[in-house]
Amino acid sequence: MRRGNDMRIAPAVSAPEPAQAQGWGGDWNPARYLAYGRERARPAMDLVARIDRAEPRRILDLGCGPGNSAAILAARWPGAKIIGLDNSKAMIEAARRDFPEGEWILGDALTAPLEGPFDIVFSNAAFQWIPRHPALIARLAGLLAPEGILAVQAPRRGDMAVRKAIDEVGSRERWRGLVEGAELALNYRELDSYYDILIGHFDEIELWQTSYFHVLEGAASVIDFVRTTALRPWLDRLPDEKARGDFEREVLEACSPSYPARPDGKILFPFARLFFVATSPRPASRPA
Ligand SMILES: C[S@@+](CC[C@H](N)C(=O)[O-])C[C@H]1O[C@@H](n2cnc3c(N)ncnc32)[C@H](O)[C@@H]1O
Repeated sequence: MRRGNDMRIAPAVSAPEPAQAQGWGGDWNPARYLAYGRERARPAMDLVARIDRAEPRRILDLGCGPGNSAAILAARWPGAKIIGLDNSKAMIEAARRDFPEGEWILGDALTAPLEGPFDIVFSNAAFQWIPRHPALIARLAGLLAPEGILAVQAPRRGDMAVRKAIDEVGSRERWRGLVEGAELALNYRELDSYYDILIGHFDEIELWQTSYFHVLEGAASVIDFVRTTALRPWLDRLPDEKARGDFEREVLEACSPSYPARPDGKILFPFARLFFVATSPRPASRPA
């Protein structure tokens, strides 16, 4: 990577919390994750559409996954240098294979050595997996050029039926001891709490939230959708395929009534997501 006078290394946040310490050890499955690629792309596209920058030179895609969100960034800003960072070996390998022209870094958002400045730090559907958001946002703010943009989309915990079902099934006697602490892998926040963090680092802050109503084949597709994401910390704690299958079946049974079939036999899967776009101060007004 080019290292010029304008480059600076972002300090790592101290006392990193490795994935294992969050209580889930399995790696991601890029192919299964991309099975709902269209649904997962929509919020990334909506976030990109709200970034008011004509010609950014350097963009960091934080929690880049298999390169799907970076591909959306590259389509919007073909002249920009896009650097993807992810702490999953499987995801980075998939990104390197499918988008060899990109620059992919295997590392943790809080600790990986990163060279700024970036004109945009973008993160789609990754913040919820990363702990310590005040430290994370401070780190990312330090990586941005003056008037650089931090653009983030993350799922909201909200009152999603499948999430409630996961909690309810996880509290049953058969599972309680096995899945204890699984929820600690996910770091959900609401927009007001992000605002309170962002005001310490940014001048202009725009925040919004919405629900996507994904049209899926049936309630079983909801389980399929979350199996590689929100359900993973629970499944990763279970000892074998049989236990994972049983757990999934119980979650499906618990949430099915909330996803009734529409007249065409399909179901609607409401998925709540939050967004923010924050702009760094101009050099003169950058807080000390
Ligand atoms: C749901 S995927 C999002 C992938 C892609 N950005 C997208 O738009 O679909 C979340 C990604 O965040 C990554 N991730 C989770 N914790 C991380 C961390 N501490 N540092 C870097 N990446 C992390 C995961 O490995 C995973 O690839």
